[in-house]
Amino acid sequence: KKPAGAPDKALARKVTKVGVVGAGLMASQMALLFARRLEVPVVLTDLDQARLDKGVGYVHAEIDKLLGKGRVSGDQANRLKALVTGSLTKDAFADADFVIEAVFEDLKVKQKVFAEVEEVVSAECVLATNTSSLPLTEMASSLRHPERVVGFHFFNPVAVMPLLEIIRGAETDDATLATAFSVGRSLKKSSVLVKDAPAFVVNRLLTRFMGEVIGAVDEGTPLEVADHALDGLGLPMTPFTLLQLVGPAVALHVAETMHAAFPARYGVSDNLARLVAAGKPGVYAPDFSLDAEAV
Ligand code: CAA
Repeated sequence: KKPAGAPDKALARKVTKVGVVGAGLMASQMALLFARRLEVPVVLTDLDQARLDKGVGYVHAEIDKLLGKGRVSGDQANRLKALVTGSLTKDAFADADFVIEAVFEDLKVKQKVFAEVEEVVSAECVLATNTSSLPLTEMASSLRHPERVVGFHFFNPVAVMPLLEIIRGAETDDATLATAFSVGRSLKKSSVLVKDAPAFVVNRLLTRFMGEVIGAVDEGTPLEVADHALDGLGLPMTPFTLLQLVGPAVALHVAETMHAAFPARYGVSDNLARLVAAGKPGVYAPDFSLDAEAV
């Protein structure tokens, strides 16, 4: 069934090579998914060799897991490993048709990344962003071809969660959008089209939900009680397990974006902010410092 608002399929361009900017966890999970479902070369880039090696190493380890579970054959595993490579320069993107960025959630950093990629790729190459909440239209604003920028927002774990938010910026054209939907179909995701608005749609709802649970704990409800209060609704994981999965820094960033846009409707937990400011992995607790030390 055609997703609401998706343009005519016939407008979609063929994707024969994918570039992924960033080789962090989300980026590496995406690289594997692209290679597996599109069966095209996927190049990851990052700032240094250590990060690249870690990203490509993660992809290879996940392919070995798929092999161990019998989900791919030995030949397929080797082919998949050969499809995913790392490069320190974006020149490797020259013949890519679809480049997605998953770098640090900072508008200026993402604008710089897209400007650099635009120097290398063709005028039709789709520039996609996996941002959780940053404004797409501003990300595209200083490019020569802002019409090829689209939001392509995955959910963690990328391999498992079916949802894909496709975001149309003010200038995104139909061919770009159709290509995004076509790639989403090949990845076997359920794509939904959303408008360019703070945190789009899904994270607006999720931020509200997570904010209320964190707020209850900050106001004195024991963490165990708040975390398990909804168990009977059959959620796949508890809110604080989800917070760890998403990462406190990402959750804080989305909460801050929502607070800046709608100060009266979205708060930012001081405890969450302090946990992230501590700058090391930590587990949320009303006095996070106890747990942060323990990790
Ligand atoms: N990478 C790859 N595969 C993974 C994985 C990962 N990180 N985590 C789990 N899986 C796979 C497992 O290998 C397993 O696969 P098989 O069936 O092939 O063996 C399958 O997922 C189920 O895993 P488990 O049996 O270990 O665990 P589960 O049944 O409890 O499911 C879960 C795990 C899918 C993560 C489930 O708990 C869940 O759906 N949680 C909710 C996650 C969620 O809401 N994500 C959205 C976060 S918001 C976000 O990401 C966006 C943002 O912008 C902040």
